[in-house]
Amino acid sequence: MFKSFLIKVFFFLPLIGLSQDLLINTSNRNVTTLNGTWHYIVDPYETGYYNYRYQPYDKFDKNNNSAFYNNYHTDNKMALVEYDFDKSPTLTVPGDWNSQKEKLFYYEGTVWYKRSFDYSLSEKINRLFLYFGAINYKAEVYLNGTKLGTHEGGFTPFNFEVTSVIKSEDNYLVVKVDNKRFKEAIPTINTDWWNYGGITRDVKLIEEPTTFIQDYSIQLKKGTKNTIVGSVNLNNAKGNEKITISIPELKINSSFSIDSKGAIQFEFKSKRIKYWSPSSPKLYDVYVETADQILKDEIGFRTIETLGPNILLNGKSIFLRGICIHEENAMRGARAYNEDDALMALNSAKELGCNYVRLAHYPHNEHIVKLADKMGLMVWEEIPVYWTVDFTNQNSLNNAKNQLSEAIARDKNRASIIIWSMANETPPSDPRNTFLKELIIHTKSMDTTRLISAALEKHYKDGVNIVDDEIGEYMDIVAFNQYTGWYGGSLEEAPDAKWEIKYNKPVVISEFGGGALQGLHGTVKERWTEEYQEYLYQQNLKMIEKIPNIRGTSPWILNDFRSPKRVLPIIQDGWNRKGLISNHGIKKKAFFTVKEFYKKIKQQYK
Ligand code: GCU
Repeated sequence: MFKSFLIKVFFFLPLIGLSQDLLINTSNRNVTTLNGTWHYIVDPYETGYYNYRYQPYDKFDKNNNSAFYNNYHTDNKMALVEYDFDKSPTLTVPGDWNSQKEKLFYYEGTVWYKRSFDYSLSEKINRLFLYFGAINYKAEVYLNGTKLGTHEGGFTPFNFEVTSVIKSEDNYLVVKVDNKRFKEAIPTINTDWWNYGGITRDVKLIEEPTTFIQDYSIQLKKGTKNTIVGSVNLNNAKGNEKITISIPELKINSSFSIDSKGAIQFEFKSKRIKYWSPSSPKLYDVYVETADQILKDEIGFRTIETLGPNILLNGKSIFLRGICIHEENAMRGARAYNEDDALMALNSAKELGCNYVRLAHYPHNEHIVKLADKMGLMVWEEIPVYWTVDFTNQNSLNNAKNQLSEAIARDKNRASIIIWSMANETPPSDPRNTFLKELIIHTKSMDTTRLISAALEKHYKDGVNIVDDEIGEYMDIVAFNQYTGWYGGSLEEAPDAKWEIKYNKPVVISEFGGGALQGLHGTVKERWTEEYQEYLYQQNLKMIEKIPNIRGTSPWILNDFRSPKRVLPIIQDGWNRKGLISNHGIKKKAFFTVKEFYKKIKQQYK
C-alpha cells in the first residue's frame, strides 16, 4: 500500500521542491560578514529572558530593560541595570564556546551573544537578510530589540528579513543560544559526540534587490543522461519578470517568463555533458539571471541510482570506498566550521583512498559539501535522528522534517551528495517505522534524484548475522553498523562469519571499527593498542568482502573525536579513540590497512 502511495505522490511533484524562505548559494550573493568578535553573557538561569515569574519578557513585557535583547544602557546612575554586554568578555564567531573558554568546556545552557554594527543599504529599495549557517541548538534572535524569530536544530541554516528593522548606525544584534539537551529534541538527549554550543557557523548580512532569486534547482533529469531539468523561484515577483539560465560551456542560454507563482521550470537537452564523478569531478559554471541580479553557481551533472544489488553512478557499478567524519577539527578540539577544516578532513579521506564520505550524524557546514563537489568525493548526508529519539512526538517529527528541508534546500544542487540518510541506529518499533516513513516521504517530496538510506543495525541468531529491519524495505541502500570484535563477536571467526540480509539491494557497512590510543603498542589481543585495531580491521575487511551485495563501507571514523561518554583515564580522557588518525593528526596502523584494502577494491571496480 505504502509503495503505490509513494509512486502516486512522486508522479505529480516537480523533481526538486523549492524552500519558501531559505536563501541558497549565499556565498555568491551580496554578503557582508558578521563573523568576528562578539560579546557574550553566560545565563544558566535565563535571567535575561524570563522575569521572576518565569514569563518570557518578549511575550509579557517586551520593552523591559532587564531583557538582555534590549541591550539597555543608561547614564542615569540611579538606574538598576544588571548586565552590560560591552563590558562582558568575548567569543569568536563562528565557533563553539566549549573550546574557547575553559569554564564553558562542559557548559550546556543559555549563552547570550551581542554584536553591534553599522549598515547602510547600498540601494534604498533593496532588502536585507540576516543569515546563520547554524546555531547549536535553539536560537532566539533579536535585532535592535525586535524579535526576528526562533530556530531549533544545531546543524542547518536559517535567515530572517531585517529590511524594516535595520538602522544605518548602532545596530545591536542579540542572540540567545541554548544548547540544553532534552528528550524531544533532534538529536535527543543521548549522543556519542560533544554537544558543542554556540554560533557555530558563518553569520552574514545579505542584500537583495526588491525582487530576487530566492531558490533554484538545476540537475540532470532522473533516468536521463542528456536532459538538464530545473526550476527557479523568485521572491516578490511582480509578474512580468524574465529569468535567463546560461551554462556557457554547454552553449545553453535561454530566457523564460515566470508563471503566476513567480517561478519557472525548464528543461535543456545537451549531448556535450561531461558527467561528474570522483575521477573527474567536472563542475559547470551556471548562471541564473534576472533584470536585477546574476547568481553564479558551480554544478556537476551525474546520475545516481540502484539496480538490484548495484549502485550505478552515471550508469556504471561502483563501490563506495568511504570513511565516517564528524564535524570537528580534532587538533583544535573544536567544532569545525571553515574551508581549511574541511580541506584537512577531505585530504585525509583522499589519502586513505576514498571516493565517498559519510558526514555523521548531522548536516555539516556548506564548505565541506562544496569542497566534496570540487575534490570528487561522493557524500552521505544525514539528519541527527540518532538512537532513542521520541518517535511518538509530533514536534520531534516536525523538527526532523524541518532539518531535512533546510539541509536539502541548501545542498540539492551539489552533485557530490548521493545519499540522504534518515537516521542512525534507531531501535525498530512501529512508532519508529512510521516516523522514518514520514521522513522518507518528506525527502522524496523535495528530491527524487538521490538515494535514501539510514544506518540500521544487525542482530545475531544461531551463529548468523541477520539484517532484516522492516524499514529496509523503504531504503534504496541497505546500510548497517556492525562492530565485530569491539562490541561483541570473535575476530578470529570474523572472516567466516555468516550473513543473512533480507533485501536484494546494495549493502553498505555504514560503520565498523574499534578504538586504539595512538602510540600504544602491544599484541593483537590487547585492546586499545594499535595492533589490536589493525588486526580488527584486517579481520573485518576479510569478512566484509564476503558479505552478499556488499557495495561500500565507511569505517568509524577518520579522526579521534571528543565524546563526554568516553571517560577511561589515560586511554580516552573524553575522546572516542576509534579514529584512524589521532587527535594530534598522527595516523594509526589501521589507517594503512584500510588504504591497502581500498587500493585493491579500486582495481576491482576499474
Ligand atoms: C555507534 C554510533 C556512533 C558511535 C559509535 C561508537 O555506532 O553510531 O555515533 O560513536 O558507535 O560506539 O564509537
